Amino acid sequence: MSRTHRVVPSRKTFAMIHVGIVGLGFMGRMHYRCWKAIPDTTITAICEANPKVLAAAGEPSKGNVEGAADHIDLKDVSVHSDLGELLAARSVDALSITLPTYLHPDTTVKALEAGVHVLCEKPMALDVADCDRMAAAARSAARVLQIGHCIRFWPEYVVTRQLIRGGLLGRTIAASFRRYTAMPAWSPDSWFADEKRSGGQPLDLHIHDTDYIHHVFGLPATVSSVADGPQTYISTHYHYDDGPAVVAESTWRMAPAFGFEMSFVVVLERATILFNSSSTPAFRVLPAEGPPPPLDIPPGDGYSREIEHFARAVAGEIVEPIITPEQARDTIRLVLAEKQSAREGRSVLL
Ligand SMILES: NC(=O)c1ccc[n+]([C@@H]2O[C@H](COP(=O)([O-])OP(=O)(O)OC[C@H]3O[C@@H](n4cnc5c(N)ncnc54)[C@H](O)[C@@H]3O)[C@@H](O)[C@H]2O)c1
Repeated sequence: MSRTHRVVPSRKTFAMIHVGIVGLGFMGRMHYRCWKAIPDTTITAICEANPKVLAAAGEPSKGNVEGAADHIDLKDVSVHSDLGELLAARSVDALSITLPTYLHPDTTVKALEAGVHVLCEKPMALDVADCDRMAAAARSAARVLQIGHCIRFWPEYVVTRQLIRGGLLGRTIAASFRRYTAMPAWSPDSWFADEKRSGGQPLDLHIHDTDYIHHVFGLPATVSSVADGPQTYISTHYHYDDGPAVVAESTWRMAPAFGFEMSFVVVLERATILFNSSSTPAFRVLPAEGPPPPLDIPPGDGYSREIEHFARAVAGEIVEPIITPEQARDTIRLVLAEKQSAREGRSVLL
């Protein structure tokens, strides 16, 4: 991608970016760990509605992926139970919004309208109209809105996209993506299990691979999906005219003891690329002939890299638009088409 964008900083100088985290659950703790490692940024405020969550701030994190902070220090931050109260204090330049999905649109728009840059967790929203509302609010406030599609920043996925698009390994013939875990059980009010609040498994878990497929191959012409009734499992074929055969499968129905696994296989004319988060080595590039190519795997994980990218944009740096609000919106459109395809038992045109 060669396009770049520049945003107007919300404060006169950016010697230090003041950050707030809204929602101190699994992802709030993930963002907390990442922000703590970024120079010239400081966490000054936390907004969390559940007093029990705040009382447990010093206790270990819950979640299915490693990296969330095990200890949150509330000593030097202002703690709020309401976003309006946090915004009224005018103490932050940027917010990580790590709330349950159904709360993303209203809270994001409110923060943008208050002149605050927003990194909102994925999925952007439950429907396209809300995504449009969020993107419009960012444009009219001239503030950064980034959606937390961490896989676009995940080192092995970044390198794989470069290899696919670089062309040296030939045409992509096929690509297959998988994501397996149990339904999240860490949230005190089980909002994940309520499709009206989470969008269900396809919008919550499967969306990671859908968004990556969108990022690498663009929007497909049609999708064809199969799922169980409540869509805790979904498998999709993304159809590209004259393009590669692309499939993705995900489920929330693994036994809890399984933990979490994400993986992919990409078959190119002159190489096979494999990744499996549970294997050692996790990432392999096997050329059809000759030695493996040298690989330059960026340090960090998708969360730390996406937050660093957001911080640079907030500081007014020119950054590559790796995930625009409009792209995140199109990913929602794509997942909703997959859900419809599975429900109606037919291919759905994008
Ligand atoms: N990028 C990823 O890999 C990834 C992984 C898991 C979850 N997520 C996404 O992150 C978001 C949050 O998920 P989570 O697992 O952290 O959920 P969670 O339930 O662990 O945390 C949400 C927190 O928000 C708090 N909260 C709810 N309403 C509030 C309000 N009005 N004001 C302030 N606090 C409020 C809750 O008390 C809870 O502590 C979801 O959109 C989810 O899809 C992303």
